[in-house]
Amino acid sequence: MNRWTVAAALLLFGAAWHGAHASTPAEVAAGRSLFNADCVMCHHADGSGGVHFGHGVVSADLRAPGLERTYRGDDALIVRAIRLGLDQNGKPLHAPMPHWAGTLSVAQADDVVAYLHTLKHTR
Ligand code: HEC
Repeated sequence: MNRWTVAAALLLFGAAWHGAHASTPAEVAAGRSLFNADCVMCHHADGSGGVHFGHGVVSADLRAPGLERTYRGDDALIVRAIRLGLDQNGKPLHAPMPHWAGTLSVAQADDVVAYLHTLKHTR
């Protein structure tokens, strides 16, 4: 390996590490409180969603690994979905999904995402 290969490998490793940001238990706990306060009425306590709002709009299933796959493993895109109501391709999500930017800071939305990673499909 020449030094450029080493530099590229380090960069890639850094990007992967950032994407797989390991959350602390405190972040997950903070995210759980926010989720229980702001999200369960539409997405259910287990994150399974499936609430029908008419016009074919159904609240999303937020459990792993489906959500992570939809958002290509990019937590920043999930934070954007929560705060700005934009899907993985930048298209607006349907009402009544609220835009949380005025309520949740980026750090708070990060905590919610840390909690979402712990909600798994059991079947
Ligand atoms: C009033 C009901 C409601 C509340 C409250 C709500 N959501 Fe949603 N959410 C929805 C609906 C409906 C959709 C589906 C929108 C669509 O399909 O375009 C959705 C979609 C999403 C998505 C996109 C999922 C995907 O697969 O693209 C995420 C992420 C999300 N919600 C997270 C949250 C979080 C986190 C909270 C709490 C902070 C929250 N939602 C609160 C109704 C709600």
